[in-house]
Amino acid sequence: MYIPEEKISEILNTSDIVDIVSESVILKKSGRNFFGLCPFHSEKTPSFSVNADKQIFHCFGCSAGGNALSFVMKYHGISFLEAVRMLARKYNIVIETELIDPVRRKEVLVKESLFRLNKRVMVFYAGFLSDRSRGGGARSYLEKRGVTTDIIEKFNLGVSRDVWDAAVNFLKKEKVTRTIAVNSGLILSRKQDNGYYDRFRNRLMFPIFDINMQVAGFGGRVMDDSMPKYMNSPETPVYSKSKILYGLHAAKQYCRREGVVYIVEGYFDFLSLYQHGIKNTVASLGTALTQEHVRILKGYASKMVLVFDSDDAGINAAKRSIQIFMKEGVDTRILVLPGKNDPDSFVMKHGQASFLSLAAEAKTIMQFLLELAIDTHGLSVEGRIKVLDEMKLHLALIHDSALRSLYVRELSETLNIDEKAVLEKVRDAFVQNNTKKSPLMPEDHDKHLVSDPRERQILSIMLNYPKLIPEMVKRDVVSYFYSERFQGIAKKIIATELDKDGFVTNVMAKIDDNKDQELIASLAMDDFSGDEDMAQTTHVLMNRIIKIRKKNENILTTKIISAEKGCDADVTELLKQKQQEIQQLHDGQQL
Ligand code: UTP
Ligand code: MN
Repeated sequence: MYIPEEKISEILNTSDIVDIVSESVILKKSGRNFFGLCPFHSEKTPSFSVNADKQIFHCFGCSAGGNALSFVMKYHGISFLEAVRMLARKYNIVIETELIDPVRRKEVLVKESLFRLNKRVMVFYAGFLSDRSRGGGARSYLEKRGVTTDIIEKFNLGVSRDVWDAAVNFLKKEKVTRTIAVNSGLILSRKQDNGYYDRFRNRLMFPIFDINMQVAGFGGRVMDDSMPKYMNSPETPVYSKSKILYGLHAAKQYCRREGVVYIVEGYFDFLSLYQHGIKNTVASLGTALTQEHVRILKGYASKMVLVFDSDDAGINAAKRSIQIFMKEGVDTRILVLPGKNDPDSFVMKHGQASFLSLAAEAKTIMQFLLELAIDTHGLSVEGRIKVLDEMKLHLALIHDSALRSLYVRELSETLNIDEKAVLEKVRDAFVQNNTKKSPLMPEDHDKHLVSDPRERQILSIMLNYPKLIPEMVKRDVVSYFYSERFQGIAKKIIATELDKDGFVTNVMAKIDDNKDQELIASLAMDDFSGDEDMAQTTHVLMNRIIKIRKKNENILTTKIISAEKGCDADVTELLKQKQQEIQQLHDGQQL
């Protein structure tokens, strides 16, 4: 790491973690902490907490934790350096670029150049659209589809010219380097020579923004019946289709306000709903929704309505997406639009109120799947068995047992099959599901946490009552720790200046290891409010740690010595092994 610790501390002390986390997670204040739904694992009740005093976050469910920087890294899936630059930019802190490791610096600079370039290209395409003569065709296309000027401007729509080299020449004129030009996905290399040509030609252009309002990529639609109808930017260092949702940058505040988000498939679906005042909408751009998409959306709304066309493709898309929503445990509704409508054509024809009243009656996932299965198999005896066999697979995906049993009852009533029989089928499917792969445990639950609880407590007291550290140093309690990991962390805590503000923040700035950051965040969240005399508690703890270590060592050493005296080689070996095992146990390698 080339960025000095003081710089990291400066960033951490200037930024506000509540502010940063709130951009992506709905937080409610409760006591001294803020709580919300964890963006890093599936949950229905909030166990994700943020502490403003200590500037840390910690999830009591999956034990993710850390400071503002680790949050930004984890949430946006970016490197440490990018997170540093992002927060520095946000809070106007200057980082001298020569401080940065050259390889990492290159990555960051590439991304920043791509964002800058995309923005200029967006303006370039928008320029053609508003150009009197050049933009005429595209403007009348948009007009024909009922898109207003407000929307065109708000979403920076544009048009690419019907030539092979408009973007190529633009990039040349702007003196964009070859690496950036190729990485942007805006041009492609020609097979016959080593020249390039434009990816987007004669298409209506939709810039795709990321959550930070930066232009990540583009989509382009033809304005006639030629194929392919849509083309999107390829995956680039700044555009990843599994993470980006079209329109979220504009919709997020409305999703928060309503607590609901409508998920549609296309650009025009999004734009038309937005134009009709249904602004809490995002578009998945025709790709299958990913778990990442759902997790991102969970930060803005607790209820999600999937809006699909009623054709087979729409139904199939709905079926494909459903599993992800079920696994994430989000309240999800399925809205299948009547007739041959997609959201765009529906709202253009029938208006906002009709859309909203249909949406209010959207089916739950289970209702939707059940009706679909009944439609397919009918309600004859064999039909009902087939329906049950299909539904048990869906129900087995629900990890919340209370919710599962509600659906089991509903299913047994609808199919008129004994509840116990339904339950048994579902249970079998559930067991099968979970023996194949490991159960839904938070990924890497930290094994190391299982260590001497007293050592853990000492660390926790250090973080929460730094005033007591000098006493601990005097007793040299840390040298009696069994866990080397805890020892290492304790030393870093001790090395942190006591009388400066933001003690925990400054400790965090010294820790590179992600797991150690999580541990510190969880320790710093410990609640000692019941304990009045911390000094006394600490005193007792230290005594025990020191005494136990000394005693254990004495016993073992005495036994080893006497075994050696008695020439009992096997016993000696056994005891030495024991000694090693205890050491390893405390280092957390065996557990
Ligand atoms: P649709 O064909 O349903 O789009 O595809 P749409 O928005 O209704 O199209 P029009 O303009 O109203 O006819 C839905 C989405 O799937 C992606 C696009 O993001 C589109 O908005 N798509 C579709 C592609 O990426 N490529 C295609 O060839 C077609
Ligand atoms: Mn359409």
